[in-house]
Amino acid sequence: MSKEQEYHPLMGDPAELEDERGDSPPPAKPTWMSKISRGVLVGLLAVETVALAVTIFALFARAPHRLTTCTVPAKSHEVLYSPALEAVEHEVGVYNVGFEGDLSPFQMPSSPALDQKWSDLYNFGISRITKEEAARLPNKTHAIPGDDGHYIAELDVFHNLHCLNKVRMALDPDYYPDWRVSTTNNYIPSQKNATEHVSHCIDWIRQSLMCTSDTSVIVWQWHRMLNTSIVKGNIAHTCRKFDKIQEWAKDRTMILPYDPTVHIEDDIVVPIFHNDFN
Ligand SMILES: *[C@@H]1O[C@H](CO)[C@@H](O)[C@H](O)[C@H]1NC(C)=O
Ligand SMILES: *[C@@H]1O[C@H](CO)[C@@H](O)[C@H](O)[C@H]1NC(C)=O
Ligand SMILES: *[C@@H]1O[C@H](CO)[C@@H](O)[C@H](O)[C@H]1NC(C)=O
Repeated sequence: MSKEQEYHPLMGDPAELEDERGDSPPPAKPTWMSKISRGVLVGLLAVETVALAVTIFALFARAPHRLTTCTVPAKSHEVLYSPALEAVEHEVGVYNVGFEGDLSPFQMPSSPALDQKWSDLYNFGISRITKEEAARLPNKTHAIPGDDGHYIAELDVFHNLHCLNKVRMALDPDYYPDWRVSTTNNYIPSQKNATEHVSHCIDWIRQSLMCTSDTSVIVWQWHRMLNTSIVKGNIAHTCRKFDKIQEWAKDRTMILPYDPTVHIEDDIVVPIFHNDFN
């Protein structure tokens, strides 16, 4: 439990303190000063005591939620809760370098077959998680109308892949004319959306790459025939097993179409995080 979380319930109290200060008379004469200061101090002490009591009461009254939210770790070596963490397994992965001689199966000309390959990566619907899982998320999500006790959720890896697919499409406007982009507004109206969408996607992927900051090491090795060292891309990475993450999501595909116009109240309270993971 971070300090921010721990003391969050006090956040309403400074206003009370302000009121208290506002009510005290202005110090007119020096002789009154000490009395007033003492009065203000006693007042502050009383307010703080009341605030402490209220806080303790609030903490206990909301014990079930505090317990769930406080399990969210906030240390630099730990990660925020995700219901999919249970599916995380690691493996050593070596990427295709992507140049002639080491191409990936995704490096084929745009075609229905390629669209299908991309679609298979992420296109199996949004997920449904339990209320207990939703209550542990760092952010609040919404209940699924008609699917009692279940909440809507999407793993960002699938949004990332969707985004990269749109960037790929934008790079082949002969095949995907609707996805042609122009940052100089040289587009027909139907391409304005693509331009905005692809801009969002590129920036999202940029932030994701920076956020996850892959620290795998690209190396240089001596090439005896060429008498020179050359950069080698086919290095070992720590990878999360993508198929396990996919399995997790496929097992939780929403069973009802999601109606975003229905609001369902709940008692889930999420913690507040600041940029203070250290
Ligand atoms: C752009 O997308 C919005 C929804 O995001 C839609 O309402 C609008 O019709 C689209 N415009 C074009 C020209 O496709
Ligand atoms: C590489 O260096 C060796 C030894 O200096 C030399 O015999 C050989 O011809 C060189 N090869 C090339 C491709 O420059
Ligand atoms: C999600 O949580 C973070 C960290 O507390 C917060 O900064 C952000 O505004 C939240 N976003 C939403 C949509 O709740």
